[in-house]
Amino acid sequence: MKEASYFQKAAMLATLALTGSAYVVLLRYSKVVDNLRYISSTVVAVQEVLKMLVTICVLFVECGGFKPTMSMLKLQVLDKAKGTFSMALPSCLYALQNNMIFVSLANMDVPIQQVLFQLKIPFTAFLCVLLLGKSLTTRQWFAVFMIFTGTGAIEYQSAYGFLKNGAAKAEQKTSEHEDNFVVGFVAVLVASLCSALAGVYFEKMIKQEDSPIWVRNFQMYIWSIPATLLSSFLQDFSKIKKEGFFVDYTSIVWLIIIVSSLGGILVSFVLLHTDNVTKSFAASTSLVLSTFASYLLFEYNIGIYFAGGMILVCCAIYVYAHPLPSNKHRLVSTSDE
Ligand code: C5P
Repeated sequence: MKEASYFQKAAMLATLALTGSAYVVLLRYSKVVDNLRYISSTVVAVQEVLKMLVTICVLFVECGGFKPTMSMLKLQVLDKAKGTFSMALPSCLYALQNNMIFVSLANMDVPIQQVLFQLKIPFTAFLCVLLLGKSLTTRQWFAVFMIFTGTGAIEYQSAYGFLKNGAAKAEQKTSEHEDNFVVGFVAVLVASLCSALAGVYFEKMIKQEDSPIWVRNFQMYIWSIPATLLSSFLQDFSKIKKEGFFVDYTSIVWLIIIVSSLGGILVSFVLLHTDNVTKSFAASTSLVLSTFASYLLFEYNIGIYFAGGMILVCCAIYVYAHPLPSNKHRLVSTSDE
């Protein structure tokens, strides 16, 4: 695999941060301003189908036509059945993660859920160390916990802003379901773990074996399409039957689907060329950008939590990316001795 240049990596991370923030802003716009009643679980399933279509188109272009694509897929997907089956795990973990997010949101306060979901950042760092053999310095661990606290603070404020801006239904839910806090708590822990584990497992697979990234994505979406369709029908069967699968699919919903699908594909490249912890830092930057954009667009209340969280996120990125000069010096002089 050709190593990406520093500039390419920076461009990928910046685009990931931008698609992440655009996705959140568009989602809020569709719910708060347009008040659309589309079924979220169907949107998740359509995103997987779109990712598969993009993947097939790229494979067609790369292989140079229908026949060579088919023989390549036979060789890489059918003949390497073990590799194809192994991608079922991250796909199912991502599907479980989506469902657990719904369960946790139905059982606990949205702001608390958003804060707890940020546990995926330290979980990701732990799993990278445990399963990928990555090592983090004390300074980098400190940065990981700083970014967890910072994103938690921003999510907390942002979720309250969302409730205040007319999501009365969500507010109702928060008070109705407080009794099931334990269920919500377990669900959000499972969701964070699934996110971390799926990302780390996918990174391990793409870095260990030499199947092209587009083939890996193809193998992944083979599983995620039925998994997300199944979970959509299990969760929302009566709604889909009554109102239709594509209810309220306006142009903004299609835009959400496109942005999220491209963002998902971009995640695979970011994991190939950087790593999961770096990806978490890019996601935190997107959180700062999307909250700021929401403030400008929807008059969100930017208060003390957002300001504190933003400072923490910026400091954490700096601390993570810059080793101490004295350490550098010590390393150089030790190897010189
Ligand atoms: O929240 P988290 O960072 O875990 O989400 C990663 C996203 O990237 C998921 O929505 C997943 O579906 C997507 N992804 C993808 N293709 C990959 C790996 C991840 O679409 N190969």
